[in-house]
Amino acid sequence: MRYGRFDDTNREYIITRPDTPLPWVNYLGTEAFFGIISNTAGGYSFYRDARLRRLTRYRYNNVPMDVGGRYIYLRDAASGEFWSPSWQPTRCNLESYVCRHGLSYTIIGSTYLGIAAQTCYFVPLGENLEIWQATITNLRETAASLSVFSAIEFALWDAWDDATNYQRNLSTGEVEIEDGVIYHKTEYRERRDHFAYFACSEPLVGFDTQREAFLGPYAGWDRPQAVERDQMSNSIAHGWFPIGSHHVRLVLPPGESHSIIFLLGYHQNPPDQKFDPPHSQTINKVTVRPIISRYLDPHHVQAAFNALRARWSELLNVIQVETPDEHTNRMVNIWNAYQCMVTFNLSRSASMFEAGVSRGIGFRDSNQDLLGCVHMMPERARERILDIATTQIEDGGAYHQYQPLTKRGNDAIGSNFNDDPLWLVLSVAAYLKETGDWAILDVPVQFENRPGTEAPLYEHLRRSLRYTLARLGPHGLPLIGRADWNDCLNLNTFSEEPGESFQTAANRESGIAESIFIAGLFVLAAKELAQIATHRGNSADREWILEASNEMARAVASYGWDGEWFLRAYDAFGEPIGSHRCEEGQIFIEPQGMCLMAGLGLDDGRAAQALRSVHDRLATPHGIILQQPAYSRYYLHLGEISSYPPGFKENAGIFCHTNPWIMIAETIAGSGDRAFDYYQRLNPSVRESISEIHRCEPYVYAQMVAGRDAPSHGEAKNSWLTGTAAWNYVAITQWILGIRPTYDGLEIAPAIPSNWAGFTARRTFRGATYRIVVVRDGPGNAISLTVNGQPIEGTVVCLPPQNQEIEIKAVLR
Ligand code: BGC
Ligand code: NOJ
Repeated sequence: MRYGRFDDTNREYIITRPDTPLPWVNYLGTEAFFGIISNTAGGYSFYRDARLRRLTRYRYNNVPMDVGGRYIYLRDAASGEFWSPSWQPTRCNLESYVCRHGLSYTIIGSTYLGIAAQTCYFVPLGENLEIWQATITNLRETAASLSVFSAIEFALWDAWDDATNYQRNLSTGEVEIEDGVIYHKTEYRERRDHFAYFACSEPLVGFDTQREAFLGPYAGWDRPQAVERDQMSNSIAHGWFPIGSHHVRLVLPPGESHSIIFLLGYHQNPPDQKFDPPHSQTINKVTVRPIISRYLDPHHVQAAFNALRARWSELLNVIQVETPDEHTNRMVNIWNAYQCMVTFNLSRSASMFEAGVSRGIGFRDSNQDLLGCVHMMPERARERILDIATTQIEDGGAYHQYQPLTKRGNDAIGSNFNDDPLWLVLSVAAYLKETGDWAILDVPVQFENRPGTEAPLYEHLRRSLRYTLARLGPHGLPLIGRADWNDCLNLNTFSEEPGESFQTAANRESGIAESIFIAGLFVLAAKELAQIATHRGNSADREWILEASNEMARAVASYGWDGEWFLRAYDAFGEPIGSHRCEEGQIFIEPQGMCLMAGLGLDDGRAAQALRSVHDRLATPHGIILQQPAYSRYYLHLGEISSYPPGFKENAGIFCHTNPWIMIAETIAGSGDRAFDYYQRLNPSVRESISEIHRCEPYVYAQMVAGRDAPSHGEAKNSWLTGTAAWNYVAITQWILGIRPTYDGLEIAPAIPSNWAGFTARRTFRGATYRIVVVRDGPGNAISLTVNGQPIEGTVVCLPPQNQEIEIKAVLR
């Protein structure tokens, strides 16, 4: 069953009923000011940091769900009836409803009582504000006399404190009103030099800034007293719950439309110019006023909207494909690329979108997110790489995350995740392949943000490998530390304290728990760094790196193979995890994917055997499960993984991030059919037709789909901010379609389904445009390439001089 449809021409998903199984969310903002918006206008806004600079309140887990947002109420003077054109919060029986989620904008429209209202929400490029442009049309045959109310609820900046520290925050709220603009200035009197503002393009009849004055005692957002009575109190919030609400009256002749603009923005003043006059407590508005007046002008709004759309066309144009499968086309050309960008921008910091208070930018997460969008914005990828590397510790280790506002590493979510540093090598490798910007390797980068510790980025990469090598266990395999990629396989934690976080609980390093996953990741990273060293003419580095990689490969071959698949780990007692000898958790997906991507097991039949085992034991119609059999009880020596009920999350859920690793492995092993089959099982657009089961948005990937052990098998959770986006993008574009940047040129090596006649693609790469036509002339992946009509050897098209158009024809046999 569907709740809407794709409009590929406009790059939108059109939701045609408001009561989607879960709030179907979109993200606003592309640079510093961001917002989350559901299909019923729920959500919140923030500047850079979802926790520390939160503008508005949102309650995802309320009843009903998804409360708090960018609300508008309309009230018909004649009947006294009122409603919200976005359905929430009044939830009236709208006569028509449509929500169009586009790329960084959302348009929600409906009709009720002969009044059509449509609101377009977006953040202009380069600005720290969001625009809501509401167009109200009278479809009646008589004039309509209407009241329009806006409503937001301010968060008192630190969203965590806002939700918990009432003894303080019930007394701190402050606002100012000037020329109809509501300024939220809580804590501006002390150390903050920023404030929020909420403006309206129309003359006001009234306003409210104190929540209780607007809603009335014990009333909810579905029935504000001020709207019911058509009468605002002009309340000024002193403490309690500051809100912003404007009241506008309109008389619309039959058939006429009127457009109203609301602006919600963030503004910062220089610390010594906070007040005007200087010794007062009044906000200095000199620099914000011109911004407000600019965007209350519909011409500027239209221009900003056009610029945003043009920007997205430009970004998406770097890769466009046309394959025989519409779901592939739509995900590659629009939605998957878009999700990669949103995830890159926010990491998991506004995640899960439910709360937005939990964490910063993850070291491992961001390095992986970058893989999916380095081609769209290499400059920002460069900046991100340097930011991440600056948080690295001198021994090569990593802080698990850093705060977007301060860019400093923190261990708030634990430390000693021994896979972390290796991901930096993969992101830098991807950046170099995309851009050829070898100079980045010589940029001096601090350790732990400490001036004076600078070493070239290249040295950081060497230390990442050294970090693993300095931590090998009894089998010569990498020690797992607190956990590897799987945050929940906590082999050294032994937590018995109810509610204790597995991520921060004391970690009793056994000194012997080892990870075969990290071993595979090490080999993959080492192969990249060896190539990078070669490019730099550093043969000494190349030697030791390849030697270490071979040694690791031998350790995996000797101690990492279980007979039919790669083992997962050795626990704190030296016993295998992910082995047929285990009672539960016999086979895990991660080492199969990672070891194969690293090229292990390709010449001795183990790779093919591992993939057969994945297919036979882990694959379901909804995707590939993380491990089997699920842990049926809590195991002290395994940690969080066994804390989840069977079928959920890391305990045998379909943890989507890992699935593309298997797709890639299948292409390496030569099976485009299998790879594409797995790709389709997870593709959100394919799953659109089972939206009542999948429940999450059909245009983006979710972190998890419940596994076969769960009663809700097939149900997705935690959509949007997940590494699943980047890895699926890499799997489909670089491995299945096989258009792969390398250090020396663009490689064309598709492993597409045998029943595809071919496909075409356009790829901008290092300043040149490649027009690629792939034609099938046999069932296999053997390829012959011609470049501008000339046959070439191999699969890599060497770099052309800049700004050329290059025609590539690939024949598969
Ligand atoms: C989740 C993991 C997550 C970890 C750290 C766990 O509860 O299951 O997926 O990585 O928390 O936030
Ligand atoms: C989500 C975390 O963000 C990511 O870092 C981790 O790898 C996965 N969960 C698996 O546990």
